[in-house]
Amino acid sequence: MRSRIIGTGSYAPHKVLTNADLEKIVDTTDQWIVERTGIRERHMASAEEATSDMALAAARRALEMAKVDPAELDLIVLGTITGDLPWPATAALLQGMLGNKRAFAFDVSAACSGSLYALSIADRYVSTGIAKKALVVGAETLTRIVDWQDRNTCILFGDGAGALVLEPSDDAQRGVQSIHLHTDGSQWHILHQPGPGSRNPLTAELLEKRRQYLFMNGREVFKFAVRALEDASREALAANRLSPGDVTHVIAHQANKRILDATLERLGIPASRCWMNLDRYGNTSAASIPMTLDEANRAGRFEPGDTILLMAIGAGMAWGAGVIRW
Ligand SMILES: CC(C)(COP(=O)(O)OP(=O)(O)OC[C@H]1O[C@@H](n2cnc3c(N)ncnc32)[C@H](O)[C@@H]1OP(=O)(O)O)[C@@H](O)C(=O)NCCC(=O)NCCS
Repeated sequence: MRSRIIGTGSYAPHKVLTNADLEKIVDTTDQWIVERTGIRERHMASAEEATSDMALAAARRALEMAKVDPAELDLIVLGTITGDLPWPATAALLQGMLGNKRAFAFDVSAACSGSLYALSIADRYVSTGIAKKALVVGAETLTRIVDWQDRNTCILFGDGAGALVLEPSDDAQRGVQSIHLHTDGSQWHILHQPGPGSRNPLTAELLEKRRQYLFMNGREVFKFAVRALEDASREALAANRLSPGDVTHVIAHQANKRILDATLERLGIPASRCWMNLDRYGNTSAASIPMTLDEANRAGRFEPGDTILLMAIGAGMAWGAGVIRW
């Protein structure tokens, strides 16, 4: 059995922060941001809006498309590093908001690869028949953990949520074909949030040193990302006896246009096959893949039988790639 995506949904908060707005906050320019990243604007959650609120909006849209009653779900997996509360899981909060009592629900912490990890886990439960209706969500409020005094990072990230509904299918030619995940924990330090946590508890010193905010060594992440995304994509294609020329669409974590351009060039896949929305949303971490998939789906891009290559990379370092037959 395979798992098949039968519904997609996404949500972005109403407030838009343009590069011109950022010019007023940090020492930067629209030109620098566009040339180095491809980002023009990003959405920002309102003070009242938390990660689960955005997850709920995206989930409702995906469930509506799938014509699945929320009460029917028997699994909810949510990728996030910006949950509502340290615990319990935001997936549990979402289950409550959906009025569902059946599903077991948990979060996955794999940063920008969170929804690819979540999809891989849900795929195992659905394709083995353990779950009949699964909800995969990526939802993030990154604007709450970036340092608005750090121009190296605050320009990159945005908020949003995306969701996918999965069900089992007997047609082996359709659905998730395989997902290949990797981690290199020796490189955790190049992209992380130092605290608060058991290593660096919440103290006045932590706040004074601004260690509650995301830290990134951009150059190291860039180099790592291009190599890892190419390797994982080749692995996923080879596992399905496909070559880059067989790929109809690429749905990639939207981190940086230059990272994706370099990766696609190395793979020999035309950039036109990769749906881009980073110019409008920035890097939305775990939300990125399901938001992008939903946008391309609702634009009518996918035909039955199309081969979609998924790829994502994020802190951990955690990355992976997968193949879906639509
Ligand atoms: C962050 C990133 C865009 C920076 O681009 P870069 O070409 O590597 O730039 P550098 O870090 O070498 O910085 C070059 C200069 O620009 C400056 N700079 C950094 N941010 C700036 C900004 N927003 N505006 C203007 N100048 C900026 C730096 O301070 C540096 O100045 P210096 O040479 O005087 O020290 C790039 O490294 C990147 O995209 N990395 C990957 C990030 C990512 O995708 N992370 C998430 C992965 S999931």
